[in-house]
Amino acid sequence: MALYVKAAEILEKAERKQGALKTLVYDSKFANIKQLFALVCETQKFSSVLRELIESTKLLKHTKLKMHLAMVLVYDLVMGQGLKCGGSWKSTMMKHRSRLQAELARIKIKQKVSRNEDLLPAEVQRSAVDHLPRYVRVNTLKTTVEDAVDYLKRDGFSYQGQASRLEDLTLKEKDFVRDLHLPEVLVFSPKTDFHDHFLYKAGHVILQDKASCLPAYLLNPPPGSHVIDACAAPGNKTSHLAAIMKNKGKLFAFDLDAKRLATMSTLLLRAGVTCQQLANQDFLKVDPDSLQYKDVEYILLDPSCSGSGMVCLLDNSSADQEKDQARLTSLASFQLRCLNHGLRFPCLKRLVYSTCSIYSQENEEVVKACLQQNPGFRLVPLLAKWPERGLEPLTQCLRASTSKTRSHGFFVALLEKHSGAGNMNQRPPVQISDPEATSHSSLTFEKRPEASETENKQTPAADSTQTDSTPGKKKRRKRKRKKAATAEGL
Ligand SMILES: C[S@@+](CC[C@H](N)C(=O)[O-])C[C@H]1O[C@@H](n2cnc3c(N)ncnc32)[C@H](O)[C@@H]1O
Repeated sequence: MALYVKAAEILEKAERKQGALKTLVYDSKFANIKQLFALVCETQKFSSVLRELIESTKLLKHTKLKMHLAMVLVYDLVMGQGLKCGGSWKSTMMKHRSRLQAELARIKIKQKVSRNEDLLPAEVQRSAVDHLPRYVRVNTLKTTVEDAVDYLKRDGFSYQGQASRLEDLTLKEKDFVRDLHLPEVLVFSPKTDFHDHFLYKAGHVILQDKASCLPAYLLNPPPGSHVIDACAAPGNKTSHLAAIMKNKGKLFAFDLDAKRLATMSTLLLRAGVTCQQLANQDFLKVDPDSLQYKDVEYILLDPSCSGSGMVCLLDNSSADQEKDQARLTSLASFQLRCLNHGLRFPCLKRLVYSTCSIYSQENEEVVKACLQQNPGFRLVPLLAKWPERGLEPLTQCLRASTSKTRSHGFFVALLEKHSGAGNMNQRPPVQISDPEATSHSSLTFEKRPEASETENKQTPAADSTQTDSTPGKKKRRKRKRKKAATAEGL
């Protein structure tokens, strides 16, 4: 019963705008997060049908249940896997099962449909998570894409080669392809379940949405580099970074939430990650001038967001969510503080910023404000062939959505320190806002942006910080940076 009580509590909180569904589920401390998340998502997806069922059968009156609890119970009883609880609630619900089933059948007849999914509003039907391909990232710390493909072929899957168009990602039951944009991503039909598969259990593949693989792929820190994952748990992007770094270098991963961090430790262990240093710490309180971060050149920042791009949340009418300005404003202000903080690391070359939000307030607007406040950084134009761009004028950034990229909703921006930029700690805030000026970089990427492309652009001052760490030299270096910054300000 605990599952249903918790799910009802979360749905009620989400309705009162007390948090994003995903965050509420993770914060619930429930033992089986996956089971809870699935139940909450499905119930929310079918909420209008469930309410109709409950109202027309007068279930609340007959059972004295509250609406949200009734919704999760009715969902599992007539649409899901059957009730997983016992005791008096189960027997109460079982008494009403026939009436509920009959009412559901009546609604379907009225709407001339045969499947439960057909009752969903068109928008939800189109974007339902069930219709998205199943993406799997091959963990190159443990295997190669070729070996994973061979194993899967021997296991009864049918390899269709490398996808070349988005349509190739619409796959039949046992078919799979290699993704057209991300070389380490394999794509399967929507219902493919890998949770019990050897490759997943042994950490050879990670179940990760395609869009969520973009940040680490685009940041592309070379082996041996020092990297920060600022808001890291539960760690899918951390393990991706470690794979790109071939476990060589240092990967500092922070998260405020101890429980999520514990989950992350297990995930990283399974993925064979060894170069990480986890800290249960507020990233905003991490000192950029601390000696241990003096060589940090790459930062991945994937901070808390509204989660509005998560497909199962799309049933929440976006009109409603947009009204929730206070929450979005506070999230955007937190995101901007994290971004500005990230750019203060003295040796930073590149920072990738991502959210699973569809709102420009958490995406383009945050990046735009950050660029205004940090004129030493500019946007890197990303993957020219990616089908969905950031909103004008930030078209260097990428967006993702169910309709255009066949993934969850996502946003990613890559910021790089450009020539002549000194240490940002030394710079006064300059109010310039000309994103167009950043949109004509000479770099166009059909491939992942190479770290070396940035390295060549570093100012001598920035370069010197990479090797020079003695206190005396540090002072000289600061003076030198200040001079460079002042000169650039002219
Ligand atoms: C969107 S999730 C990160 C997902 C993660 N990057 C991944 O790919 O698995 C955001 C995370 O930020 C953490 N967080 C929120 N505020 C933070 C802060 N001030 N410092 C560090 N972590 C924070 C949350 O606990 C949450 O785990």
